[in-house]
Amino acid sequence: MMYVVEKISDCKATLAALRHDGDTNKRVGFVPTMGYLHAGHASLIERARAQNEVVVVSIFVNPLQFGPNEDLDKYPRDLQSDLALCERLGVDIVFTPTVATMYGQEPTVLTRVHVDRLGEHLCGASRPIHFDGVCTVCAKLFAIVSPNYAYFGKKDAQQWRILRQMVQDLSFDLEIVPCPIIREEDGLALSSRNAYLSPKERHTALILHDTLVSLEQKVLVHREFDASRLIAQAVEQIDRAPGVRLDYLSIVDDRTLSPIDRIEPEKDVLIAIAAYVGTTRLIDNVEIRVER
Ligand code: PAJ
Repeated sequence: MMYVVEKISDCKATLAALRHDGDTNKRVGFVPTMGYLHAGHASLIERARAQNEVVVVSIFVNPLQFGPNEDLDKYPRDLQSDLALCERLGVDIVFTPTVATMYGQEPTVLTRVHVDRLGEHLCGASRPIHFDGVCTVCAKLFAIVSPNYAYFGKKDAQQWRILRQMVQDLSFDLEIVPCPIIREEDGLALSSRNAYLSPKERHTALILHDTLVSLEQKVLVHREFDASRLIAQAVEQIDRAPGVRLDYLSIVDDRTLSPIDRIEPEKDVLIAIAAYVGTTRLIDNVEIRVER
């Protein structure tokens, strides 16, 4: 039996009933989403299902994390098919609040959660309020659901790292579980925003993954460690490709998310890219570590 709840109080009450079983507390796994679910989301839900007795999915297109010129109004939605997928995957509770439920009529939520430093580069540079919006909604959702584990995709490399910092800094009693990127057969990372792409753009979009794979090869196989040079060469290639506008391509320290000049052995490094294909902004990344 899957419960679909829209009110915060209903979500809490339903959870309380499912969580407590005599004296034992069941584990609650939580997957926050903005809906239009695909195999990437499904992989998080399956992981949560395997590791917890109770699984909660939230579907909420969070206005706080969209900039004024971003795609909030046209963000794809399909609640019926999302619910069908959740049902198939054995989800216990789907929380589908409205904006008014989360933020009041006006919106009247005056609190923002901000994590310093980690949001300065990569997506944070071109989307200045984005991660405050993500942290604020996740803090609120964590307070409502009180999960033991919250599952996030590594596709949003900066997002889960920022949230892990927030959870640590604010002593939330939960663990952030980062999960692998799910891709199409040709390498394109699954994303709800892929729905915006025309067939031609869908083909052009491969440049994100192709760029990452070729950089990974250069570092791991050819042992080229000069980050600035690697980036400059790759950027030149992307700039020549029609229909693509690069937002950023960066090689950053996996912990601080600050750009590095040189890749050092035995240090975790993240290579991240964001680019507009037509008007659609897509992101992707790889984690690498050079052995000595
Ligand atoms: P959304 O874009 O719907 O993504 C929900 C979760 O699915 C995120 O953790 C994201 O990283 C993960 N995900 C998306 N595509 C994936 C893929 N190809 N492989 C693996 N995981 C993937 O991210 C958000 O929503 C929002 O910012 C949210 C955290 C819900 C806060 O509003």
